[in-house]
Amino acid sequence: MSVDLATRWRGVAAEDAEVITAPVNAMLRGRSRRLLSSLMRPHVRALLGATALIVGFDIASMAGPLMVQQAIDRGIPALTRHHDYWPLGLTVLGLVLAGAVQASTDYGFTYVTGRVGQDVLLDLRQRVFDHFQYLSIAFHERYTSGRVTSRLTSDVEAISDLLMDGLQVLAWAALTILTVAGILVWSDPVLAGVVFVAAPFVAVLARWFRRESVKAYRATRETIALVIVHFVESLGGIRAVQAFRREPRNQEIFAALNDAYRGATQRSIRLVAVFGPGVKAMGNATLAGVLLVGAIRVEHGRITVGVLAAFILYLRRFLDPILDLSQFYTLFQAAAAALEKLSGVLEEEPTVPEPTPGSATLLTSAQGRLDFDDVTFGYRDHPVLHHIDLHIPAGQTVALVGETGAGKTTLARLMSRFYDPTSGSVRLDGTDLRSIPRDVLRRHVVMVTQESFLFSRSVADNIRFGRPGATDEEVRRAATAVGAHQFILSMPGGYAASVGKRGSRLSAGQRQLISFARAFLADPEVLILDEATASLDIPSERLVQRALLTLLRDRTAVIIAHRLTTVEIADRVIVVSDGRVVEDGPPPELLSRPSRYRQLHQAWADSLV
Ligand SMILES: Nc1ncnc2c1ncn2[C@@H]1O[C@H](COP(=O)(O)OP(=O)(O)O)[C@@H](O)[C@H]1O
Ligand SMILES: [Mg+2]
Repeated sequence: MSVDLATRWRGVAAEDAEVITAPVNAMLRGRSRRLLSSLMRPHVRALLGATALIVGFDIASMAGPLMVQQAIDRGIPALTRHHDYWPLGLTVLGLVLAGAVQASTDYGFTYVTGRVGQDVLLDLRQRVFDHFQYLSIAFHERYTSGRVTSRLTSDVEAISDLLMDGLQVLAWAALTILTVAGILVWSDPVLAGVVFVAAPFVAVLARWFRRESVKAYRATRETIALVIVHFVESLGGIRAVQAFRREPRNQEIFAALNDAYRGATQRSIRLVAVFGPGVKAMGNATLAGVLLVGAIRVEHGRITVGVLAAFILYLRRFLDPILDLSQFYTLFQAAAAALEKLSGVLEEEPTVPEPTPGSATLLTSAQGRLDFDDVTFGYRDHPVLHHIDLHIPAGQTVALVGETGAGKTTLARLMSRFYDPTSGSVRLDGTDLRSIPRDVLRRHVVMVTQESFLFSRSVADNIRFGRPGATDEEVRRAATAVGAHQFILSMPGGYAASVGKRGSRLSAGQRQLISFARAFLADPEVLILDEATASLDIPSERLVQRALLTLLRDRTAVIIAHRLTTVEIADRVIVVSDGRVVEDGPPPELLSRPSRYRQLHQAWADSLV
């Protein structure tokens, strides 16, 4: 059913195909095991301590029925026949002591496992976040934000549930089942035999439950994943949704997904509803059998009443752990699926790897010369750039023009190493970008795009993003240089004013100016502007024109623009078509002969009148 759903909403669900293929079974795969053990390794001593505590707890909790047996067989007879308080007193004291030990070991165990659990989660969340940041743009293009969110929230939570509750339940239940079984056999093998008659029935029921709950669990995960993905995507694109009146359709889709999720959940609830009472019914039948056989054995003088009473009390303790183990199994499955996905992400390698320390070139001062040597590139297997040879001397201002889809943005992305070429090389001052550490490269090469991303912080913080250590004065100077100072002062709060979520309180042009100020502050040797002025109106663009001259002075600049006003300040124009450089020269020269650039220029000039 869920696979149907997944194919029906393929646009949404194909991204989350992992949900369908994620193995959910009783074993952890190699990489999940490696992740888990690397998370637990620092806590081995604490875990050994926790094990000792739980053993102590188990022993103390086993004392209860034994004390009851003592009280019935010795304490009460001594009291009623000889008025001797001592045996009963000792028994009561034993119970109190056992209670105290139980309480303190319980406290210790809960405290230790809780601390270890939280430490592990802290470590895991940090690792996942760091790794996501480190992974290349190519990864983030295919990994939806809904998936990133569920890695950091529900997956981490599933592991948390396992560590905080699951392990405790497992340790306690396994230990209890073993000790109780031992005690039952020791106190009366015949009665124990009666109990073990029920064992195969419980085993069959447990097997059925496990098999069905794997299926049910998988169905709930798949359906909830679809609910989340649809939720995140339709609210993430709320502007488009509302603009195109897509709400009713989205609502229908959501209602169907939501209903499928409810159905899947109901199925797993039904399983629990059958399993719990089933185990209890078998327990009660066993209890009746034990009572009957036990009474006969008391009559024949084989065992005392006290032994029978203790036996029944122990028997009751046999059931709870069996029920708890099935609960553990549910937690385990959730955590296993989460571990599988998290370890998958953590083993993901960046497609633009950092140079190895031995081969890294630090480039303490760069000039800003850029060279493309026979560069070919494609996204996945779709070729976009073909044999590009391009040499840009330091300090030159270059305009990249060409129709949409020609490959201009792709060239810019290769210059700033968001991708590596498939063959050939891109070099900065003669050094292959692949051997320049990322933070060094980011200091020298900065790319400003049309969608300048602002964070929901103050204006000053957003500008300071260009160089985190900058003083207020430097921030102000950068804003002044690009012509943003005026409008910033007119905002209530000035530089301290919040820009709102993603800069929503600013106009597109103002956001653009902020990102120019950011770039000015970063002061890179190579600055790439990809359609960076596209969201400005003509008068603002004129204003920005002046800002641009300041911004581009004394550095290598690559400008990609459709409006050719911006191109007029360039020393050199490069026309890109279909992934190739087709024209290259100073603007006056290209305009002086019949060239593609002249056509583009003509078309643009016509559009102005
Ligand atoms: N992230 C991407 N994944 C796959 N293909 C892409 C991606 N970005 C761009 N392309 C493709 O590469 C080609 C060049 O795109 P681009 O460099 O953005 O062109 P331009 O900036 O000149 O308009 C286009 O055919 C586009 O479909
Ligand atoms: Mg582009």
